[in-house]
Amino acid sequence: MSRVPLIAGNWKMHKTVGEAEALIQALLPRVASLESVEIAVCPPFTALAPMVDSARGSRVAVFAQNMHEADHGAFTGEVSAAMLLDLGVSGVILGHSERRAFFGETDAALARKLPAALTAGLTPILCVGETEAQRLAGETEAHVRAQLESDFAAVEPERYAEVVVAYEPIWAIGTGRVATPAQAQEAVAFVRSVLAERSAEAERIRVLYGGSVSGENAVELLALADVDGALVGGASLTAESFAAICAAARQ
Ligand code: 13P
Repeated sequence: MSRVPLIAGNWKMHKTVGEAEALIQALLPRVASLESVEIAVCPPFTALAPMVDSARGSRVAVFAQNMHEADHGAFTGEVSAAMLLDLGVSGVILGHSERRAFFGETDAALARKLPAALTAGLTPILCVGETEAQRLAGETEAHVRAQLESDFAAVEPERYAEVVVAYEPIWAIGTGRVATPAQAQEAVAFVRSVLAERSAEAERIRVLYGGSVSGENAVELLALADVDGALVGGASLTAESFAAICAAARQ
């Protein structure tokens, strides 16, 4: 089963509009010839509209970093799927560990956000992953299974392959401590096996690895049998390193 790899750059809370513009202009020519790889950048909300304009007609899609599950309403500070679509955004990161840890994002909310994104026509990148304490306690699989089972609860089985899952071990995020290839392959294959219990589409679901991915380690990680791409934080903030990771995903 061949799955088109996806490399997504999560810019987190970095880049003013001017800085974002400089980054995308440096990135576009570097990835223009990378066929057979899907590429997305996930700027902060303030830079979404200008990045959609700048990336139009290129190989680079623009994703948001969060959304609310309701269409509209009294939810101060939140943004709906309809608002993202209106800008020309094509997908959204959901359940990033930073949103879970710092902003109270719950599996109950994600169980509503995932179908809301799909219904709107956005590609969700659902993030799952364990803390270091959970890994040391041997709880990685139980934790990841619980996240997946909760967050996919309201997704129709025939729509599973429209979701992208990013396995991001929290201890590897922003630490430079990348998972070993064996750890990444084992966890990503486990994600697929859990989804296969619920949907016949599991072989088509793209499962990404995230956590300290760099231009140096990307080739090895992206060659793993079940790893279908990467969700990249720090190394997505410069065009050279992000383009190197995109090039490493070329089939
Ligand atoms: P780093 O690549 O900076 O470790 O961040 C990973 C991440 O959180 C992507 O969503």
